[in-house]
Amino acid sequence: MNKHSKHTVSQLISKADIENIVASLAKQISNTYRGQAITLVGVLDGAYTFVSDLARALHARGMEQISVDFVGVDTYGSGTTSSKKAKITKDLKHDIAGKTVLIVEDIVDTGYSLSVLHALLSARNPKSLSTVALLSKDARREVNINVEYIGEHIDDVFVVGYGLDYDGHYRELPYIGVVQFL
Ligand code: IMP
Ligand code: MG
Repeated sequence: MNKHSKHTVSQLISKADIENIVASLAKQISNTYRGQAITLVGVLDGAYTFVSDLARALHARGMEQISVDFVGVDTYGSGTTSSKKAKITKDLKHDIAGKTVLIVEDIVDTGYSLSVLHALLSARNPKSLSTVALLSKDARREVNINVEYIGEHIDDVFVVGYGLDYDGHYRELPYIGVVQFL
């Protein structure tokens, strides 16, 4: 399957459903962390939309000390199969030692990128380190990783939209769609 394969995109998770999923995650997370300062570490590029909505949803649930930082992790290149090697392409701006840190990831597939990122961040001695992923493809997992909060479990399909891309495209879609190769 190369990057020029003919394909269509069909909606899997609507904008309204995404809003409900984000609100539900914010409820769970705020139940754990309300009253504490928290640092959201968004995993670029795909998680930028999710971090943005999640930060505001956490604020709406009464969380008051929210910092947002970003880390760049590249695994996919331009295709749709994981390279099994995660590369850190951009580091955090701030020190996380002693901080309550929540990694915010768009989707967990094989788990390689999260395991690399988790090891990297936990070596910096945060007070706590947990992870929220909007989506998880459980059937594709190759590395055993702990994801405390998962928005929605999906089948082994390639999805785009709401920040997620296929070869740089479709990040702007307000819904999550499945790429179907023709
Ligand atoms: P993993 O290391 O295999 O778990 O890959 C996770 C990363 O691959 C995610 O953060 C995404 O950036 C990307 N990815 C995995 N599945 C998809 C997908 O279906 N659509 C778009 N990007 C994906
Ligand atoms: Mg990613």
